[in-house]
Amino acid sequence: MIETEIIESRQIGSRLYNVLVDLFEFTVLLVRILLEVFISTVQQFTRKEQKDVSGEIIVITGTGHGIGRELALQYTDLGATVVCVDINESGNQQTVSDCNRLQRGAAQAYTCDVSNREKVLELATKIKIEVGPVTMLVNNAGIMPTRPLDKQTPEEIRKTFDINVLSQFWTLEAFLPHMREQNRGHIVSISSIAGVIGLSNLVPYCASKFAVRGLMEALQEELREGPHKNLIKTTTIYPYMTNTGLCKNPKVKFPKILGLLDPKQVASAIVVAQRTDVAEATIPRGLLYLNNVCRNLPRSCAELLKDYVDSGVYSD
Ligand SMILES: NC(=O)c1ccc[n+]([C@@H]2O[C@H](COP(=O)([O-])OP(=O)(O)OC[C@H]3O[C@@H](n4cnc5c(N)ncnc54)[C@H](O)[C@@H]3O)[C@@H](O)[C@H]2O)c1
Repeated sequence: MIETEIIESRQIGSRLYNVLVDLFEFTVLLVRILLEVFISTVQQFTRKEQKDVSGEIIVITGTGHGIGRELALQYTDLGATVVCVDINESGNQQTVSDCNRLQRGAAQAYTCDVSNREKVLELATKIKIEVGPVTMLVNNAGIMPTRPLDKQTPEEIRKTFDINVLSQFWTLEAFLPHMREQNRGHIVSISSIAGVIGLSNLVPYCASKFAVRGLMEALQEELREGPHKNLIKTTTIYPYMTNTGLCKNPKVKFPKILGLLDPKQVASAIVVAQRTDVAEATIPRGLLYLNNVCRNLPRSCAELLKDYVDSGVYSD
């Protein structure tokens, strides 16, 4: 009888102890969350130091035109060695010539279809020998077929996913080992505002850009938990419509507030986000916060706002 009472009181004691431990851990969690909220609020209003990229070997895809070309120019100007990869040989060669004319870092051109896994893996071996192990990857190459879903062919839908999504798996397979070997690195991925908000005439494109968002968020978790904790960074960017020609028929209601962005400014915002280790950002920055708020409102409110802003793309 006494023995049973002793066992029972021990069990109660141990349960009480476990509850107290849980309560303590939860309180610590709350305090840490509040501290992080305070720190990031302060950081919004202070200028963060930008990392030096002059020693980096940066692979950028889609450098033959548009945002990728501007990224190559800006990273070369910062003294980096830029490996320019594009399927369009002449456009890419032009970018490389313009980069090398800056007489800062260095740039080299490689022609490759990034949706072809074998070619990407071959390219990585070649780059390692000819340039060196890669420390940064910017997944930028992309296409944007623009028409209603019933007018998009199965081939086009597959191609959109091959170039916008699967290519990023192949470049990660090819270049992440370079970063793991060096215990450092940074992966940047160019999604789109269409990876944050669904837009008509862009169903496969939006799906591909939402997929990129998922890829990057999950990859960030894996890198955070793995042996390279915080040594390999990730940055995902969601630019609004940019004046590169990719958006053939843009629909803009308020050109002064939400007009087409300049690719130079977009590239510059991407470089700053990467150099300050921002995990994800829209360009302009406020759109991500606006979207986060709208997602908590009734769907009808978000629709009212979308109709009011009335921006997007017309069919080709
Ligand atoms: N322009 C916009 O409005 C806008 C907005 C948001 C996001 N983005 C994204 O930014 C990225 C760059 O867009 P952009 O406007 O500079 O486009 P762009 O068409 O001006 O340039 C894209 C480059 O990618 C290259 N490319 C295409 N397929 C390729 C492949 N299979 N292999 C290698 N290279 C390939 C093209 O040759 C081209 O040089 C894309 O991922 C796009 O989805 C663009």
